[in-house]
Amino acid sequence: MVSNRFLLPGIAALMALSGVDALVPSRSDIVSISRPSSSLHLVPKGCGAKPFEKKKIAVFGAGGYLGAVVFGFLQRAASIVNIITLELDLSLERYGTGIAGGPSPRAICATGSGSDALNKVLGSSFRLAYAGEDLVRLVDTSDVDHIKERLNNYDAAIIGTTYQLERRSVTLNTYEKTPNDKTYEFYLDERYGAWDNDVPSDDSDIHASIFKNTVRACKEAGICHLVVVETPKTVHHVDFLKVLEEEGVPYTYIRTASALKKDVTYTFEKGISNKLGVVRLSLGSKLASVDTTKTEKSLPVNREDIAALIVQSLISLDWAQSRILQINSSVYNVTSGYGAKESRGQRYDKEWCPNSKIFADVLSVL
Ligand SMILES: *[C@@H]1O[C@H](CO)[C@@H](O)[C@H](O)[C@H]1NC(C)=O
Ligand SMILES: *[C@@H]1O[C@H](CO)[C@@H](O)[C@H](O)[C@H]1NC(C)=O
Repeated sequence: MVSNRFLLPGIAALMALSGVDALVPSRSDIVSISRPSSSLHLVPKGCGAKPFEKKKIAVFGAGGYLGAVVFGFLQRAASIVNIITLELDLSLERYGTGIAGGPSPRAICATGSGSDALNKVLGSSFRLAYAGEDLVRLVDTSDVDHIKERLNNYDAAIIGTTYQLERRSVTLNTYEKTPNDKTYEFYLDERYGAWDNDVPSDDSDIHASIFKNTVRACKEAGICHLVVVETPKTVHHVDFLKVLEEEGVPYTYIRTASALKKDVTYTFEKGISNKLGVVRLSLGSKLASVDTTKTEKSLPVNREDIAALIVQSLISLDWAQSRILQINSSVYNVTSGYGAKESRGQRYDKEWCPNSKIFADVLSVL
């Protein structure tokens, strides 16, 4: 009996390849021996690389639709780890995600209306999933220290460049100075039906300040990696990239020149809908402004697919590096079969998102 507890993951994988069998899985090497040879290139370099060092993730603007779907996938990704540890299941689909449960994911909003909006999406698209008060923190976006204190011990954060804003009263017993204080709730990337008449038409200063304070707070709180979504409302993407470079927290910056759409009947069992084209642009390259490319007729990208790509990028990509990813829809549609072409006995409780391994594949070659 060979104990491979102390072997490097690569060696363990080679042993699995060369037919060394009867290895007893120990907590530290379940992933490495479980990978079939054809998928060796799928070795995750993000938090999926060390699934038992569970990483805590914060989602800014989680009341917005995109933010809420990211949050829902993260909750699922956290629970999949538990399935592995309980069942010691070794198939690739069930490898650990390295995403923590318990107090994570954490929704970062400005007011109670953010968490209400989050729970509406969790209730309808994630089988009545729920984010209780313990998973939500309301922050004063004008105060770096206030944000920072709510990120202590967190490992990564998902943030937007330009959110949808909604004028709201500061939730009582949080950070109000007088009972009538107002603030802006911020939604990633938007909340359907949000009341945004009360927002100045040129609100770029507000966004610049929220972004700068957020990135600074993340840095001071010791966040190791940021996933930044360039939302369709973004005007000067250069300003946001400049802040990221100045603060120096490694980041994955995700942008698209396509319009975004939403599947109004989305439920997580549907998984991803399109393979997505993902191109890695070199840092500092001059990015085409989205406005000029909007005129090109490109297929819209589903928000649910972007949300899954964000979570998969945390699992798959090296957190120590920064990168810019430009995405579009490809001609390859994908379906889990949910609701239509389901195979007999099809189950959805073993994966955080059906077909997410297609994204793992796409990201592994970047
Ligand atoms: C997506 O982008 C790539 C590279 O930028 C391009 O070659 C491809 O044609 C695009 N796909 C679609 C369907 O527009
Ligand atoms: C993929 O799906 C979209 C909408 O869901 C549809 O418009 C498009 O025609 C489909 N593409 C292919 C190649 O089937």
